[in-house]
Order: sequence, then structure tokens, then C-alpha cells
Amino acid sequence: MYSAITGWGMSVPSRILTNADLERIVDTSDEWIVSRTGIRERHIAAPDESASTLAIRAARQALERADLMPTDLDMIIVATVTGDYTFPATACLVQDALGASCPAFDIQAACTGWIYGMVMAHQFVTSGTAQNVLVIGVEVLSKITDMSDRATCVLFGDGAGAAIVSASETLGGILGWTLGADGARPEQLYRPAGGSRNPLTRENIATHDAYINMMGSEVFKFATRTMGTAMEEALAKANLTAHDIDLFIPHQANLRIIEAASKRLELPPEKVFVNIEKYGNTSAAAIPIALCEAVEQGRVKPGSKLGCVAFGAGLTWGALALQWTAPVD
Ligand code: UT7
Repeated sequence: MYSAITGWGMSVPSRILTNADLERIVDTSDEWIVSRTGIRERHIAAPDESASTLAIRAARQALERADLMPTDLDMIIVATVTGDYTFPATACLVQDALGASCPAFDIQAACTGWIYGMVMAHQFVTSGTAQNVLVIGVEVLSKITDMSDRATCVLFGDGAGAAIVSASETLGGILGWTLGADGARPEQLYRPAGGSRNPLTRENIATHDAYINMMGSEVFKFATRTMGTAMEEALAKANLTAHDIDLFIPHQANLRIIEAASKRLELPPEKVFVNIEKYGNTSAAAIPIALCEAVEQGRVKPGSKLGCVAFGAGLTWGALALQWTAPVD
């Protein structure tokens, strides 16, 4: 049994925050942001939009493309660090809104979350225990970003991307994968307060600890070390090499990181999908959003071999070697 992507969808908030807007908020410049990250603008959730709002929209689009009813879903997995509540899981809110009646749960692997979710879906589908699994990556990082911290506020955006992984007898879908984690340095990218170790209090609620803290250059070095190796591991499990990739869809965290990974894999720019300029880093949503846009732009066709690789807080990493099988017209 193979695990094919049969549905795909995305959603971003309508409000756009440009680099020019950020120049008015912190001591930064369009020139610095574009040259250091590749980002020009990002979408930011409205006060009444949350992770579930975006996740539900992306999920509906994916169901429509897969030509499935919500009741056809056997499982809903939502990868997020910015769920609507600490509990219950955002996946349960999505399940109810869609009118599905399957198990639903959240997973947390930060920017690698959607890759982790896809591998879980692959296990259920290829073992014959599920027919259709909805995997959503969604983040509303703007709600936990310190808008006075120029080191982080220019990087992140909000959005959701979804895929439906279905059992199929046709060769394709997820053919190889790798996942990894190294929990020795959580402080390189974390939210210090708000968990059980350091709950939010009157004293810390307005401090930087209540927001994303990041050692940018450490994460940068980790990403450039890890991405190429992880992608090669996933490809090797599918008996493929980087030369077989038709389209590389990496995590959209920084254009320089994407370029370093592409160079390491010897992939020319035309085989690399980049949309970071429009969305910034949407964490777990970045790859499924990029996948949707790649399909919409005609860059993915039945038979296309795709490589997806992500890294993120944890620190975590993961990669998928995929062969697209769904009709795209
Ligand atoms: O999904 C995973 C999430 N995280 C990431 O992927 C982040 C990975 N890291 C990065 O993308 C990069 O490290 C950053 C874009 C965050 C930073 O780029 P960098 O080239 O590593 O810059 P830096 O942190 O070494 O800072 C260089 C300078 C510093 O000034 P000084 O000390 O040299 O005077 C910073 O204070 O740039 C300054 N700086 C800024 N200047 C203008 C930092 N942020 C800004 C800013 N605007 N927004």
C-alpha cells in the first residue's frame, strides 16, 4: 500500500505586514530584511482569527480537491505550537467544524511539525489502518511574537497548509522519509514562559519571556548543517538521489538557508520552490503552503519527484521524498 497526497489546501490571513510597515515599528530596514532573509511581506492574523480559523479553511480546500466528505476522514493531525488553546487540541476544533467523526490530535515539532505529521499519516495509511488522514500545519506566530524584538518580528508570518494522505495501490506518495531531534539546546529557539516550567504570571506576562526567543545565528548554522543530510537520507530510503528531484520544496525560514541547502544538493534554482518573500516563515505551515502554490503554478505534475525538508525548534528536522500522483488540472 502506498500513501498518496490526494488533497491539498492553504489559507493565510488577508492582512499583510510589509517590510515598510516594520520600518515604522522597529529599527530595521527593507534592505536588511530582504538581503538577510529574502522576506518582503508576511500575512498576520486578525484579532478574531486563530489557528483553527486558518486550519479549517485549508482543510476544506484539501477535502474539495480530494473529492472527499469530512466523514471519509479516518484521522486529523494538526501540527502547531500556536493552537487555539493549550488544550484541547486544535485538531478537535477542526474535526467539529468540518463535521468529521474521526480521532483528532495535535502534534508539536515546531517548524518540522507538518513533516512529522505526514510521516505519522504514512504509517497509518501504509499499515492499512486508515484510508484518509488529514494533516494540517498551522501557525499564528504573530500572537507570540514580541513586536519590539527586531531579531524575530521581521521573520514570522501566519498561515495554514493541509494535505490529505490516502491509501493507494499506485506507486507514489511518500517513498522515503527521515525524522530527527536533538533536545540538548531548547533555548536556541523557544518561548520561555507559558508552559509548566515557567507559567505566565502577572510579572512575566509583559516581558520578552512570554514571546519567541531565538539565537538566530545558532539556528542558522544548525539548519545549514542539517537540511542537506536529512534530504539525502530520505531520498536514499526511496532509492533516489538529489539529481532525481524535479522540485525541491524546503522549509521557508531564510532564503540564504534555502540557497545553502540547494547548493549542497547541487540543485539549480529552477528546481527549488521559494515563496518566502510573500509569507515569511510560517513554521509548520510553510511547506504545505509552498506545496499548494507549486501545484497551482503548474510546477508539480503526476510523476513529479519532490523533496521536502524542514528544521525547527526542538531542535528538530525531517524530510520527505515524494512522488506526486494526483491529477492537477
Ligand atoms: O524555522 C526556524 C526558525 N528560525 C530560523 O530559521 C532563523 C535562522 N536564522 C536566521 O535566519 C538568521 O540568523 C537571522 C535572519 C535571524 C539573522 O541574520 P544574521 O545574518 O544571522 O544576523 P545576526 O543575528 O548575526 O545579526 C547581524 C546584525 C546584528 O547587529 P550587530 O551586532 O552586527 O551590530 C543584529 O543586531 O544585524 C542586526 N539585526 C538587525 N538589523 C536590522 C538583527 N535583526 C535585525 C533587523 N534589522 N531586523
